[in-house]
Amino acid sequence: MIDKIKQYIDAVVSCELTKFDELENFRIQYIGKKGLIPVLFNDFKTVAPEDRKEVGILLNNLKNAVQDKITQVKNLLESLETDSGHYIDLFMPVQAEAGSRHPLSIIRNKITDIFSRIGFTVADGPEIEDDWHNFTALNFPEEHPARDMQDTFFIEKKPDIALRTHTSSVQVRVMESQKPPIRSIFPGRVFRNEAISARAHCIFHQVEGLYIDKNVSFADLKQTLMYFAKEMFGENTGIRLRPSYFPFTEPSAEMDISCHICGGKGCNICKYTGWVEILGCGMVDPNVLQSNGIDPDEYTGFAFGMGIERITMLKFQIKDLRLFFENDLKFLRQFEASIT
Ligand code: DAH
Repeated sequence: MIDKIKQYIDAVVSCELTKFDELENFRIQYIGKKGLIPVLFNDFKTVAPEDRKEVGILLNNLKNAVQDKITQVKNLLESLETDSGHYIDLFMPVQAEAGSRHPLSIIRNKITDIFSRIGFTVADGPEIEDDWHNFTALNFPEEHPARDMQDTFFIEKKPDIALRTHTSSVQVRVMESQKPPIRSIFPGRVFRNEAISARAHCIFHQVEGLYIDKNVSFADLKQTLMYFAKEMFGENTGIRLRPSYFPFTEPSAEMDISCHICGGKGCNICKYTGWVEILGCGMVDPNVLQSNGIDPDEYTGFAFGMGIERITMLKFQIKDLRLFFENDLKFLRQFEASIT
């Protein structure tokens, strides 16, 4: 009997009770009418006289251990009770699902990381812009089609204010507030008055780059973009620059990368050309430097701009741009493994 009582004491001390109904069962099991302790006290009569002292002490210890346990657990559970009468179950196993980054965030972070490794800082600008920062200071002619209502969301009754149509506007903000050398990228959201389809959206994201210093050349631009393309799409990626036109760069170019899916052999992603376009770029037009208080005789610079959706679609082979904005968990969960 002595050993049995000692085992009960151990069991009482070490048992874990996390709910009121468990506590009640415990109480009934030990000190209920037909509980263990009344039964043991009953059996006390049959204990040999020489053992009575020890058994008596142990029985009292057991009774005290049970009482202590009940008081202690009751106090704890009551302290967890909220105003609504429910108590917070701190012992409930956690089943929260881990979240994941949005694919656009994954690629934006990767772009930022690639450029920060070669000394580019990150800057930001407003999404609601005035005509000066979005167009005029970037050398857009008065009659340029981008200034048309059909392409740009203007704020009602304020013809001078619009949602920025590109992150190039941040170039102007940065030139206003900093002196060269400037070496920054500007990720952000942009807006265009476009019908929504698999290939176009009225809201999307860009990353703009700007480098202004003494003696910056087209070769620097090319080298920087080649580094970016290889870091983003793999060591074997080739680039090609095609002459183009943007009001704020002269000369201007569009950059293609060798198709990372077929390696340049031709497939439906590159439309059997072996190349896919990823960005626009060029040397900052002297007019732009001048408009922003930078002497074009002393400084030169390059700029580039790319769509984050476009890079993400190429990288993850996503065929419909609308998926980025629908928040369909079946789509988003595919990126759980990416942690950056
Ligand atoms: N702003 C241009 C667009 O939205 C992209 C671009 C092209 C940015 C050439 C540049 C650049 O900085 O040099 O289509």
